[in-house]
Amino acid sequence: MQTILFVCLGNICRSPLAEGIARHYIEANKLDVTVDSCGTGSWHIGEPPCENSIKVAKMHGIDISMLRARQITLEDLAAFDLIIALDSSNIASLLQMGCPASKLKKLGEYGYNGEDVPDPYFFDGFEGFEYVYKMIDECVKELLL
Ligand code: 4NP
Repeated sequence: MQTILFVCLGNICRSPLAEGIARHYIEANKLDVTVDSCGTGSWHIGEPPCENSIKVAKMHGIDISMLRARQITLEDLAAFDLIIALDSSNIASLLQMGCPASKLKKLGEYGYNGEDVPDPYFFDGFEGFEYVYKMIDECVKELLL
């Protein structure tokens, strides 16, 4: 079994989407993969995903409302086979924590030219969430399937 951890800053917008979308493909294709998500920051520990992430996932038939934010730990760095950061600043934080470079990737490396998944927390309105959803969906598919 392979274990994958998706990491963003707050664990309320992007990485819960990546986790929910990955769970969907894992179940649909009966893959032997376990996924989780977390944030590098502590601001939102215990909170559900942001309303717009819950909404955009629901529009695509995926329920992420039960997920709760948590902060990454040193144990995570050892426990997971693959650690997937959503943007370059997440990569920098993870390397600073001592994450082995050999297991660290950026989600955009899977079919999006290594681009950052933009942080929709600071977007004005809902539109950006559709873009972020599409980007995460395509990259997660490329990663898993
Ligand atoms: P996320 O978005 O990293 O995609 O969960 C953010 C959520 C909260 C904050 C930053 C990014 N924040 O600064 O509180």
